[in-house]
Amino acid sequence: MNAVKQQSTSSTTKIPRHVAIIMDGNGRWARLRGMPREEGHRQGVENVKRIVECAKELDINYLTLYAFSVENWNRPRIEINALMRLLESFLKSQKRDLLEKQIRFRVAGRLDEMPKRVARLLHETIEETREFDRWNLTLALNYGSRTEILDAVRRYSESVREGREDPDQLDWTRFSRYLYTADLPDPDLVIRTSGEHRVSNFLLMQSAYAEYYFASEFWPDFGPDCFRRAIEAYAGRERRFGRTGEQLKNKSHS
Ligand code: FPP
Repeated sequence: MNAVKQQSTSSTTKIPRHVAIIMDGNGRWARLRGMPREEGHRQGVENVKRIVECAKELDINYLTLYAFSVENWNRPRIEINALMRLLESFLKSQKRDLLEKQIRFRVAGRLDEMPKRVARLLHETIEETREFDRWNLTLALNYGSRTEILDAVRRYSESVREGREDPDQLDWTRFSRYLYTADLPDPDLVIRTSGEHRVSNFLLMQSAYAEYYFASEFWPDFGPDCFRRAIEAYAGRERRFGRTGEQLKNKSHS
């Protein structure tokens, strides 16, 4: 734990710039305790607050949390409603906190399909925190990578039709401007909790070179100590971006 703390203040830091998290296991956390799934989500929100705080302490500039996928609309209506109510109260209670902590808030996903009251709060929070740039919190909401790609292709095609884009000039940098995450750097580290080893349609393109970390804890139990362990594991990884280990060593000596 100390190693991570030290790294965050050292000049040769290996603190990831962008950490993205698949917060899994709320339902199982609750069921194990004989509680309704909604209680697991409520505890999950409490952990969101702890991890946002911890990420800021570690000076992680971008934190992206997978809070609701396009597939989650298939859950029982009662659970969807509970999640929307939690999101609403999270936004109401956290807006002031985000402003105080100077954290910029964003959403990745189809925001216009969210319930009206939630969408209004999301827009407000996005607008009011717009001036901040050092720390960034993004909620992936009504998000799915495949939907994101289709939406991006649609918008890109529209730009081509209107003469603002030339398909002969198309490269990834240009195309990525049409993704929901256009303003964000690619994630360096993607964490999934609850012992599942899947990526579940989350930031598939953006994570092309990300490191993955799978934790056995359910999300409500994945507190700051677990988070720091993940960051420490990341610090020990060698990221090669398609190069060889030797190339990287030579580069660091030159
Ligand atoms: C996965 O647990 C979690 C979700 C589908 C939603 C994540 C949501 C939260 C942490 C709360 C809402 C967040 C905010 C910021 C208000 P699961 O239900 O799939 O768990 P299971 O796999 O054990 O059933």
